[in-house]
Amino acid sequence: MNKGVEPIKAQVLDIFEVTEGIYELELQAPAVVEQARPGQFAMLRTGSGGKPYLARPMGIYDVNPKRSSISILFEVHGAGTQAMAQLQPGNTVDLLAPLGNGFAVAEDTRRALVIGGGIGVAPLYPLLCQLRRQDVETEIMLGAQCGERMLALERLVPLGMVTRLYTDNGTMGKQGYPTDDLPEVLRYGRFDQVFCCGPMPLMRGVARICGDYRTPCQVSLEERMGCGFGICVCCVVDVRDAEGNIAKKRVCYDGPVFDGQEVVW
Ligand SMILES: Cc1cc2nc3c(=O)[nH]c(=O)nc-3n(C[C@H](O)[C@H](O)[C@H](O)COP(=O)(O)OP(=O)(O)OC[C@H]3O[C@@H](n4cnc5c(N)ncnc54)[C@H](O)[C@@H]3O)c2cc1C
Ligand code: FES
Repeated sequence: MNKGVEPIKAQVLDIFEVTEGIYELELQAPAVVEQARPGQFAMLRTGSGGKPYLARPMGIYDVNPKRSSISILFEVHGAGTQAMAQLQPGNTVDLLAPLGNGFAVAEDTRRALVIGGGIGVAPLYPLLCQLRRQDVETEIMLGAQCGERMLALERLVPLGMVTRLYTDNGTMGKQGYPTDDLPEVLRYGRFDQVFCCGPMPLMRGVARICGDYRTPCQVSLEERMGCGFGICVCCVVDVRDAEGNIAKKRVCYDGPVFDGQEVVW
């Protein structure tokens, strides 16, 4: 388990549906607020000993020191997230956090590009806040299926960063994907680092294009998880080292953030 991380019972402070099938959940978790770094995640289980038995991994979307709380932005898929959507203020959940490595902003980074797709914007918001605190000039590219599913704008717009929006159906921003314009944005943007979280095809495309433009790129991978802290080995991915050797890495423990060029896509 990540050093110093203890399982806790966290009380639900608030939960609401942001758009169809997507919820924001606020949990009281003072210890997590103190420790969490951008890009880390939580293992969350509803109800003690109840169903579903396994905890579900969720990126940490926001930390609110004044309320000693963290927020999670989640999309309903199966039993685990359906149970999460039924939570009410006052309920408690089993929480293990913060887990994983998180994003690493290099000391000499002056310009950064942050690319999110769908629910993948969740772990990017704390990173954007950190980049702003560090006075890193940052631009954002965000993709979503449609305008109603363009998430987190209420948090992103006040950051005042140049933001390009893309939707599959053209109902908000430009029709298409962030990767459509990425070569041009990289050519003129002179970014020191790119950070990405979203669906696999988006992250794969971003990593490939960043490789072409020799721009360092970090991606936050999603794999199905059992334990969340390196024991069950069910979240393994192949990565390639500088000599081209393939190694197995655990997304929960060695990641979830990896160098986009390391990942064997
Ligand atoms: C590090 C990490 C951070 C994540 N952060 C978020 C987040 O901030 N918000 C959010 O909504 N989701 C996030 N996910 C994905 C989330 O964990 C899954 O959607 C969730 O576990 C599904 O559980 P379920 O019981 O509802 O679905 P299940 O019944 O377990 O599965 C239903 C379907 O969901 C998909 N799925 C299940 N588990 C995963 C998984 N771990 N990754 C990707 N797809 C999965 C599969 O397609 C599966 O068929 C994250 C995953 C990881 C690994
Ligand atoms: S989820 Fe158990 S090792 Fe990664």
